[in-house]
Amino acid sequence: MRVLSGIQPTGRFHWGNYFGAIRQYIDLQNDNEAYYFIANLHALTTKRNREELRQNTLDAAMDLLALGLDPERATLFVQSDVPEVSELCWILMTITSRGRLERCHAYKEKKSKGLPADMGLFTYPVLMAADILAYDSNVVPVGEDQVQHIEVCRDLAKSFNHHYGEVFVIPEARIMPDAARVPGTNGEKMSKSYNNTIELFEDVQSMRKKVMRIETDSRPMEQPKDPEGDHLYQLYSLFVDETKRKALADLYRAGGFGYGQVKKMLADEAEAFFAPARERRAELEAHPERVLEILHEGAVRARRKAREVLDRVQHACGLSYTDAVAK
Ligand code: ADP
Ligand code: TRP
Repeated sequence: MRVLSGIQPTGRFHWGNYFGAIRQYIDLQNDNEAYYFIANLHALTTKRNREELRQNTLDAAMDLLALGLDPERATLFVQSDVPEVSELCWILMTITSRGRLERCHAYKEKKSKGLPADMGLFTYPVLMAADILAYDSNVVPVGEDQVQHIEVCRDLAKSFNHHYGEVFVIPEARIMPDAARVPGTNGEKMSKSYNNTIELFEDVQSMRKKVMRIETDSRPMEQPKDPEGDHLYQLYSLFVDETKRKALADLYRAGGFGYGQVKKMLADEAEAFFAPARERRAELEAHPERVLEILHEGAVRARRKAREVLDRVQHACGLSYTDAVAK
């Protein structure tokens, strides 16, 4: 089964990205043919600073590799290194109705707030469809927020197939099965947009400081507390095994502890959890040429597949006009 997903290089990855997405991508590389890419063309719709986009793209690649994405098992590449996708995007655009895109949430939300929305944002789901269809992907692991976009992709693929014959593989969304909804430092969903993130590879001292500043309620220490629904407990649970998780749950129910104590435990566990990845990342940072090599090889592999699919598409809709002479 071919699994494909993309992640935008819009900033440094945080705990939410890891437990909500990256960890599942890494697991899926073991039993599937996995294609993962850094969606820098999509990021262009929000990131308009050249240096930042370049740096974020490389950082994203280093982060994924450090976290365990194995280039021997999975194909890792940068979206813009496969120009076939952009051509496919145009072809798909010709069968996309305007109304279908007007209903997509990213565009709709911006529009409803009266913010300027460019054609990049408007046609974002079509580029995403091209990303998926260009590699005959079967399964697309994504977060809940992307399911609507996969629906657009399926509709476009079906309507193309209906018109031109069975050209595209119809993909399926896989809402990441054990993806946790990771709370941020203020208890809301962790997100760059809410300024409540703890980054995966930020300096250890700064990470610890952020953990110590996680907002908590002001109930007295001695009062027993329900662990479920407590964001500090939820964060701690991400890093530890069942025994440690249960021990903390018992402590909550018994009462007589301070949140400061739990924060320290959380900081220790998080530090230990990411220590091996941190070490691997430092090594990659010292050898950026290795990372470039991996991305290059990934792009070569990805392009080979995308070319094959694009040939099929061009042939089906009459763009490969030289065929007529060959006959
Ligand atoms: P952000 O909200 O910080 O901008 P993105 O939207 O770029 O993050 O998310 C990239 C991936 O990480 C998506 O698959 C998304 O579902 C996942 N993700 C982001 N934040 C969280 C979170 N707090 N909990 C679980 N998954 C998350
Ligand atoms: N839009 C996705 C996100 O913001 C990233 C993405 C781009 C993607 N192309 C894709 C995800 C194709 C899955 C498949 O998270």
